[in-house]
Formats: sequence, structure tokens, C-alpha cells
Amino acid sequence: MAGSELGHATAESLRNTDFDETPRPGSAEWVTQVVEAHWGVTLGSAVLRPLASASGERPLSHTSGLWRVSLPWGRDGERAAFVFKAQLNAAAIRPLEFHGLKRRIMKICAEQGVPVAVAVPAVDGSPVVRRDGVDCELAPLLPGTARRTLTSAQAAGVASTGLTLRSVLDGLPDSLVQALEPYPVDPLVEEERWQVALDDALGRLLPLAVHRTDEWGRVIAPVLRQLEHCKPLLDRFVAADGDAARNTSVVHGDLHRHHFLFDELREDRVSAVLDFDNLRLGNRLLDLAWIARTADHVAGTRAVRQRSTTAFVKAAESAGLLGPGETRLLMPTLMAYAVPVVVDIAKDILERDILDDLWIEYLDLLSPAHMTETHALLTG
Ligand SMILES: Nc1ncnc2c1ncn2[C@@H]1O[C@H](COP(=O)(O)OP(=O)(O)O)[C@@H](O)[C@H]1O
Ligand SMILES: [Mg+2]
Repeated sequence: MAGSELGHATAESLRNTDFDETPRPGSAEWVTQVVEAHWGVTLGSAVLRPLASASGERPLSHTSGLWRVSLPWGRDGERAAFVFKAQLNAAAIRPLEFHGLKRRIMKICAEQGVPVAVAVPAVDGSPVVRRDGVDCELAPLLPGTARRTLTSAQAAGVASTGLTLRSVLDGLPDSLVQALEPYPVDPLVEEERWQVALDDALGRLLPLAVHRTDEWGRVIAPVLRQLEHCKPLLDRFVAADGDAARNTSVVHGDLHRHHFLFDELREDRVSAVLDFDNLRLGNRLLDLAWIARTADHVAGTRAVRQRSTTAFVKAAESAGLLGPGETRLLMPTLMAYAVPVVVDIAKDILERDILDDLWIEYLDLLSPAHMTETHALLTG
């Protein structure tokens, strides 16, 4: 993705800075200085380690430097764990005013029972601190684990929490919605028009992929081939887009399964909904489409997946969140969003020589073939 040169910047900035006088933005030493200076943390008391999942895996992020920070927090010196997020991709940085609005919206979500990590304000009250051109946020570390494959109960948990989040966002006061309007999101891709991206993928990138002999050719060629079969669904998106204004709302914008954590003890309980950095005005069907994809991402037979997606649709309809005819638009909406991102990852691999193992996970998440299958379940 266009931010992906920062994929390298991330790795680079996390490297030790022993020989430099000023610590490199994103490094442990730099993060420690930022936390001490801006969050009033006692010198030498912060304990940092790179953020990893419970199983020790690297978090799914290609633009941020993420640290687990333990800090003395209570009166009696007990410690609490936080996540420090440094936005290392200049293109992904959003105006400081945005972060104030994001925090207000997240507080409303939290009040209405959605488990979100509301940022801890810095000493000067701001939700984000800009230091050396990097935006820094400190938020409570929420408990729980992300799951690669979900049980039906976990998918039901995502559907229920995701739909609650959607109704909170649909019910936000008009003043807050209007305040967010001036802050669109940079799509972080070279070509954001899906039609142009699709033609480029099929006409130019697919032959490059097919001729490539290493494992990356084998990774990207099938994904590009799948794009050929997207046309009918994307045509449906075009037909519906004239009516898009009806569905304009505040959207999370990135409500995929990696942004849900599950309780360790009650595994069907969602313990966290993460990453509100793409919050914007947009098509609310995009959030619902991500939830539908997760409902389909359950381990089991086609019948199990069918039950899970049908349950999601019923719940969304009875909550008044999906209107007549809208179920058919979910995957087309998600595909129109995903195609430019998939094509940009293909450019990273084939042209920019950015070969990041995370692409495998992103390509699975954004797979046009999976979206086509989910569409069949949703409309079958
Ligand atoms: N507050 C938090 N509590 C627990 N885990 C978190 C928290 N914030 C981030 N993470 C973990 O880090 C990953 C990446 O964080 P995210 O905010 O999504 O970064 P990015 O904007 O780079 O995608 C998440 O998917 C999650 O696994
Ligand atoms: Mg994220």
C-alpha cells in the first residue's frame, strides 16, 4: 500500500539507536521520552516492550509503531498496561482536531457498551501528541485475543457488538457528524478509482505476476486472477451508488476481524473493538459488509457458514440497520473498497519490491474470492 514504504520505516525506526544522539522516532528510547515528557510519567518508570498478540505474533499493522507500555498508575504504585501507537506514516496522519472528535465519539461508544480503548489525554489535555512529525497516542491495553478463525459463537459476538457499534454511530448527534465532515481519510493507495485499478491489474500487473518465478508470483497471481470475476458485483455497486447519500453516516471504516479481540474466559464475548483511526463520513454499508465477512469466516461446513451469515442478516434487519435490498449491496460495497488496496499491494510486490509477510494476511482479508463466496451466502 502506498504507505508501505513506511513499512520499512517502521522496521527501521524500531531498530536500536545506540549510536545516535537523538533517538529515532518510534524507537523504545524515543517512546520513553515522549511518555515521560507528555504524559507526566515519572522518569525511568515506564517499562516498554513491542506489542505482540498473546501468541507472540506481530500485530497486523503496516504504518504504526506499537508498544506495550507498563506504567505506575494507581495511588499505591500499582501498574497498568497501555498501548502506545506512533503513526509513522506521514500520509496516514490526521489533523489534530480529528483526534478530539474521534475521542468524543469513542467515549459515546464506551458509554453505550461498546468495548473501546479511549485515549488517555496527555498532560495538556490533548488526545494525541505530535512529536518529530509523528502522532502519538496512549490508550489502555484492552484484554483479549484476536482469532484467526472464529467459532460460530465468536462470529455471533462480532455481529452483535458490530451492530451495536453501527447503531451508536447512526445515532450520533448531527453536530458531531457535521464536525467530522471536513476530515476525510487518505486511502493510502496510488490509484483509488477501482475501475482504473482493476484494468491496470488485469492488463498490466497480472502478466507481470504470471512471469514472476518466486513465491511472491504464486501469492499475487491468483488474487489478481480473482479480480476478473468481480465485475458483475462491482456493476451492482455502480448501479446502487447513485443512492449512496442515503447511507452516508459516520463509519468505523476498517471493521475487519483483526479489530475485534475476544475474552479469554468467555470466548464468545468481544472484549475490544480497535482502531478508530479511519473514522470518517462514508457509506455505512461498508461497516456492515465487514461484519458480514466475519460472520462468514467461521470454521465449519458451508451449512455452518450459511447459518452464521443468515443470523447476521436477521439481526441487522430486526435492528433496523439493513433495509430491503441492501444485503445484496454489502459485498459489492466491500469489493469497491478492497480492489484498489489489493492492486496497490500487487504493485508493492511486483513493482516496488516491498515484500512484507503481512501482505499474505491482508490479501486473505481483502480476498475478492472470499467476498464472492460471502455474497453467494448472503443472497442465496
Ligand atoms: N488498546 C489496545 N489493546 C489491545 N490490543 C491493541 C490495542 N491497540 C492495538 N492493539 C493491537 O495492535 C494491532 C494494531 O493496532 P491498530 O490500532 O489496528 O494499528 P494500525 O492503525 O496500524 O492498524 C491491533 O489489531 C491489536 O492486535
Ligand atoms: Mg488496524
